[in-house]
Amino acid sequence: MTQSRTRISKAVIPAAGLGTRFLPATKATPKEMLPVVDKPAIQYVVEEAVTAGLSDVLMITGRNKRPLEDHFDRNYELEETLTRKGDDTRLARVQESSDLATMHYVRQGDPRGLGHAVLCAAPHVGDQPFAVLLGDDLIDARDPLLSRMVEVQEQHGGSVIALMEVDPAQIHLYGCAAVKPTVDESVVQVTGLVEKPDPADAPSNYAVIGRYVLDASVFDVLRRTEPGRGGEIQLTDALQALASDPDLGGPVHGVIFKGRRYDTGDRGDYLRAIVRLACEREDLGPDFRDWLRSYVTEEM
Ligand code: UTP
Repeated sequence: MTQSRTRISKAVIPAAGLGTRFLPATKATPKEMLPVVDKPAIQYVVEEAVTAGLSDVLMITGRNKRPLEDHFDRNYELEETLTRKGDDTRLARVQESSDLATMHYVRQGDPRGLGHAVLCAAPHVGDQPFAVLLGDDLIDARDPLLSRMVEVQEQHGGSVIALMEVDPAQIHLYGCAAVKPTVDESVVQVTGLVEKPDPADAPSNYAVIGRYVLDASVFDVLRRTEPGRGGEIQLTDALQALASDPDLGGPVHGVIFKGRRYDTGDRGDYLRAIVRLACEREDLGPDFRDWLRSYVTEEM
């Protein structure tokens, strides 16, 4: 069993996708900047990385993604205006995102797939294990996943992916894992991976969701990975190579996640995320829940 001794400190957030499912909203605005209640979706993702102890964050961006960089930077004019007005509460809200983490950015150029986006992180990451958080995948802060994945990586070495059981009819929307149980019922060994399989060919109903802790050997594998499904360089194909040959970079384990997760790049899930998080907010929740109850009973 490989033992990793270095504490993982770097997080990579691919956010260079085109967001076509959300057009026209994403024509000139990155989908990661769409607000979930009153914070852009990407801020929740960066907060999650920081909570798991990863405060060095590299974001993979592309054309039209400038607002992402601006959001995590200072806005002196706005801060000055709020200071003059003595509006400390809003000032704190503005400064939250710029004080959160040490942010770095690299541009992907052509969005040639998630695997290609992750490969853009190689010079920054070096040879240490690192985390990948998809910028449009939102994990509820009360259901910690990434810190558990970091623990599993430190225990077993190699790479760790996040898996969620889905309705077998939905598995064609996800990467899908073939798995073997381990002594820990929330952790499985991954023996194979296939991207968006037909339900009839799916090896399980375990879907890969957007959190990974990867051994740096994934970069070499990605360099050799040919474009796959959709003509894109698929991270799943590289993980399949790692899972089928542990000599390449240690085993691949999966942490089974049973908490709340939203794909904010999908319109339906995006709406569900907003309603749920708004209902649970102390400031907005009580009024919003009352309104929602009467809306559902009277108008639906
Ligand atoms: P998606 O499959 O959601 O693709 O990417 P997309 O282009 O962002 O959105 P749609 O499907 O057109 O609506 C999954 C994740 O991988 C990133 C995306 O930003 C998202 O976080 N990604 C994808 C890249 O960074 N680069 C790519 O070339 C492709």
